[in-house]
Amino acid sequence: MQLDDTIVLITGAAGGIGRAVSRSLKDAGATVIATDLAAQADVPAADAYYRHDVTSEADWAHIAGKIAAKYGRLDCLVNNAAIAQVASIEATTLESWRKIQAVNVESILIGTRAMLDLLKTSGKTRKGGASIVNFSSVGGQRGAAFTSAYCTSKAP
Ligand SMILES: NC(=O)c1ccc[n+]([C@@H]2O[C@H](COP(=O)([O-])OP(=O)(O)OC[C@H]3O[C@@H](n4cnc5c(N)ncnc54)[C@H](O)[C@@H]3O)[C@@H](O)[C@H]2O)c1
Repeated sequence: MQLDDTIVLITGAAGGIGRAVSRSLKDAGATVIATDLAAQADVPAADAYYRHDVTSEADWAHIAGKIAAKYGRLDCLVNNAAIAQVASIEATTLESWRKIQAVNVESILIGTRAMLDLLKTSGKTRKGGASIVNFSSVGGQRGAAFTSAYCTSKAP
């Protein structure tokens, strides 16, 4: 697959799969904008890196502003960032449940809303339009012991 002239934002890019996806995107010719929680991160394939908490609307607005100023459009949003907790129901608090839903599910809504104008610009100007990639998990399809909050958040 060739992704020349394709501008991609990937969240959680400093994690295991995030770094690997960033490398694959870069190898295919894409411009890779990587984000993650830390102020600085080791994402060798990234053309740009920004600190970004995906649960923060302000952070999404900040990243959208950076992309608008530099590229004027976004061709692909990869919602890769996620968290999990291994815990029994007794040990799963409402607070920890909500945190997992906020990072894994609500971020998809606020991120898509923040990037919508940039994605629409891509959709209007590029053949094939823009894409959003969300990550499911086998845990979301089949469930797994002691990970009810994560499995719920990953249902397809
Ligand atoms: N590893 C697996 O076996 C597996 C299987 C199925 C699906 N997935 C999915 O793949 C994706 C990546 O998983 P991974 O294994 O690379 O996980 P990982 O823990 O290695 O990486 C996740 C990254 O997300 C970041 N992150 C956490 N909270 C964040 C927040 N609030 N804002 C921004 N970034 C945040 C972390 O800092 C980390 O770098 C996830 O969506 C996960 O559900 C993973």
